[in-house]
Amino acid sequence: MSIGKTLKYLNRSLRVPFNRKSAFKKLAEFHSNPLSMDKLVDWAMKFPASGHLKVRSSQVRFEIMSLAKAVADLKPERILEIGTAEGGTLFIWANLASKKVISCDILEPGVKQSLYEAFPPPHSQCKVKNLTGDSHTKPFLERVEAELAGEKVDFLFIDGDHTEVGVEADYNEYHHLVRSGGIIAFHDIVEKQAIPENQVHHFWKRLKENTNTEEFVNNANQTGYGIGIVRVP
Ligand SMILES: C[S@@+](CC[C@H](N)C(=O)[O-])C[C@H]1O[C@@H](n2cnc3c(N)ncnc32)[C@H](O)[C@@H]1O
Repeated sequence: MSIGKTLKYLNRSLRVPFNRKSAFKKLAEFHSNPLSMDKLVDWAMKFPASGHLKVRSSQVRFEIMSLAKAVADLKPERILEIGTAEGGTLFIWANLASKKVISCDILEPGVKQSLYEAFPPPHSQCKVKNLTGDSHTKPFLERVEAELAGEKVDFLFIDGDHTEVGVEADYNEYHHLVRSGGIIAFHDIVEKQAIPENQVHHFWKRLKENTNTEEFVNNANQTGYGIGIVRVP
């Protein structure tokens, strides 16, 4: 790491207590108002916190709103997400699920873990569990299964490894954990992508040939994004 980058990192680290206090204050403000889907989605895309406490999601508003509404309609008890990143979509799920949200990433949540755990509304019984590891390994799948203790989830969000083999593996390995009538969603399903590693569309095209699917795509010509959902029979 260059000296400039090291100093910037140190500066951000020193600001953690201040950023944490401010993030929790904003979260309490959010929870002090009745839940609004508009505000929930807006805050998931840009939560008013910064530094190491930054919470963001790179989404097209119409698409993530459509998904959030479809998930809310399920009155979900349990949600499983593969791909926490900066915690944006986790913020949505934690405010919709009544019992548990498991959010997985290869990267550790770091200083944000306590903020993630505080995402559910104060009156909610929902617990947030962050699991760190590679979703494609058997021990990791077993940790997710152990966390669910035999229960199924209402909603599975596959937004981790975006390669064709990666997304297919996540679907094959985790779809048995979704209850009948539940939803499995994929992010970045559109064909035009800015980087070649985003290959979800290859798998999505095959999957939708023989599955009950729906697409939330803001603009048919857009590059990147697009959400596809599968309703589990
Ligand atoms: C597109 S981001 C997730 C965005 C997040 N769902 C949101 O919109 O707020 C993808 C995340 O998946 C994680 N990831 C990639 N491959 C993974 C794997 N094999 N297992 C677990 N996480 C993985 C990456 O580290 C990254 O943080």
